Amino acid sequence: MTVNSANRIPDPAAADLPLNPPLHRLFARLLAEQGAPEGADWDPREGSVDASVYRDPAFHQRELDAIFRRMPLCLGHADQLREPGSLIARELFGLPLLIVRDRQGEIHVLLNVCRHRGARLVAEQESVCRKASLSCPYHAWNYDLDGRLRGVPGAEGFPTLDKDGHGLRRLPAQVRHGLIWAIMDPQGSDIDVAGFLGGIDDDLAVLGLGSHRFFSQHSRRGAANWKLMMDAFQEVYHIRRLHSSTISPFFPDPRATGEGEGLHTRILVARDRLPEAAALSPAQWDVRQHATLTHAIFPNSLLIYHPDATSHMAMFPIGPDQMQFVHTLFTPHEPRNDKERAHWARTFKLIDEGVFGSEDLFISEQIQLGLASGANARFTLGRFEQHLRRFHENVRTVIDRAEGAAA
Ligand code: FES
Ligand SMILES: [Fe+2]
Repeated sequence: MTVNSANRIPDPAAADLPLNPPLHRLFARLLAEQGAPEGADWDPREGSVDASVYRDPAFHQRELDAIFRRMPLCLGHADQLREPGSLIARELFGLPLLIVRDRQGEIHVLLNVCRHRGARLVAEQESVCRKASLSCPYHAWNYDLDGRLRGVPGAEGFPTLDKDGHGLRRLPAQVRHGLIWAIMDPQGSDIDVAGFLGGIDDDLAVLGLGSHRFFSQHSRRGAANWKLMMDAFQEVYHIRRLHSSTISPFFPDPRATGEGEGLHTRILVARDRLPEAAALSPAQWDVRQHATLTHAIFPNSLLIYHPDATSHMAMFPIGPDQMQFVHTLFTPHEPRNDKERAHWARTFKLIDEGVFGSEDLFISEQIQLGLASGANARFTLGRFEQHLRRFHENVRTVIDRAEGAAA
């Protein structure tokens, strides 16, 4: 789930941050529960998940309609598009997107579809490029980076064209805590990220993600249902076995405590250094050094706070058994020298390839391969897999609510 860094680079600013009340409460509970037979947040008994939710095409469609096209989704860190004119094209749920920083520095999320006869404006996917404007490769209609239609060659052929009404379609989008959020609804107009995050909003402020710097990103397809990866990061039961050759030594007693915050979840996992915190004042408790904090932001984002960097993972469903898995690493500041750059490059490689790719994503793909066998109508959940159970209940609740409102 996370990685330690031998050669850790201390970040005094991060270490000095006082915890807000929810994080303080979680930390105190994690400390108090060391050695206890069970956690206060455990379920009273086992639970289960209907295995069909990972492979049923009808359920997948309901998720898209009720969740993915309605709720704010985190698309990454705005610092990835640091320079005015930088943009990235990405296809999500059948929507071809352009995420752009315009010349005034504002971020927009536009549909990558020309308003003349629909050609795709930017063909390159998943890599950042720079442009002064957006020119359609078919007949060269030209758009400003904020989506406004600027030029139409052969304008005499369109004597009544309403140029203002033919800008690129814009999705509701907002940058908050340095992260880009958007609702995948071209008809939508409003987005309230703070309201959506609820209590998690204050956590993100305290953790200072807004001043972090983009370091690296890897976007790949995974042959598994998106929820299998959300599951993998909401329990620590698997750390000893699945991660035995990578991060397990940093989690010698893989215990966690967590709580729901609306649809979202915060989970704090004990690291090898947790016992040191018992001798420190609460002002010195550090959710990156003594523990590892994870935010599971509904529906499909995970933020994992490593000792000196932060991972954002987003799982975008492509089909019931396919996802686009985008992993991004942010660092508290720009690498100040080659040593720091090399350190974070090693960290990224270990986490991205070694842990997330070869272990968590690999096992998710292995599960997907076995789903059709019918071996499990339901998956059994231990009492300490309670966050995963709640996550699946939240998926159901949101779908039922949306469908109920539409009926
Ligand atoms: S389709 Fe884009 S200019 Fe014609
Ligand atoms: Fe894991």
